[in-house]
Amino acid sequence: MSANSAAFFTVRKMVAADIGPTMALASTLKDAPHWPQSVYDAALDPSSTPRRIAIVAVNEVSEIAGFAIASLLPPQAELESIGVRANFQRQGIGTKLLSHLIDELKAAAVSEILLEVRTSNHTGNAFYLVHGFRQIGLRPRYYTEPEDDAILMSVTLG
Ligand SMILES: CC(C)(COP(=O)(O)OP(=O)(O)OC[C@H]1O[C@@H](n2cnc3c(N)ncnc32)[C@H](O)[C@@H]1OP(=O)(O)O)[C@@H](O)C(=O)NCCC(=O)NCCS
Repeated sequence: MSANSAAFFTVRKMVAADIGPTMALASTLKDAPHWPQSVYDAALDPSSTPRRIAIVAVNEVSEIAGFAIASLLPPQAELESIGVRANFQRQGIGTKLLSHLIDELKAAAVSEILLEVRTSNHTGNAFYLVHGFRQIGLRPRYYTEPEDDAILMSVTLG
């Protein structure tokens, strides 16, 4: 296990002070959504609909290494965004974020997670497949800039 491995990161709820660093991190990941601040503000607002769960992975000096956001419409949820800083990838942090999210979603009576991923995003596809997601549909030309098809995936929570 390297010094940067997931064991050295904790996952916690995203708070307002995390929005700036999370947006900065997302902007470095070409396959993560590049949302404006208003989307993050809504994600942290418990009164906004649909409700969202937003979490971050932080190291011992509180630097954000990753984030994940899901919207809830029980019994379904949509994994809208997940990202890990490039130099921390392949160390289990994405898995730690997903597993934390799944625990929270189960507690909120969610039994199925849906998501869309670019066909060109081989890393995202590999990550989701290894975590049990399966393709349930294809949305041609769903993405723009650059144009791409979306693979619709789903996993049933046990
Ligand atoms: C997808 C992403 C969140 C995965 O985070 P991560 O912390 O690197 O993931 P993990 O280390 O937990 O990987 C778990 C498993 O997923 C698979 N995987 C992850 N990255 C992979 C890659 N580049 N190639 C092939 N398989 C990969 C592997 O099976 C890996 O296990 P292993 O390292 O023991 O082989 C990260 O690559 C990322 O931020 N990508 C850019 C943003 C993005 O595409 N988000 C998804 C669409 S919103």
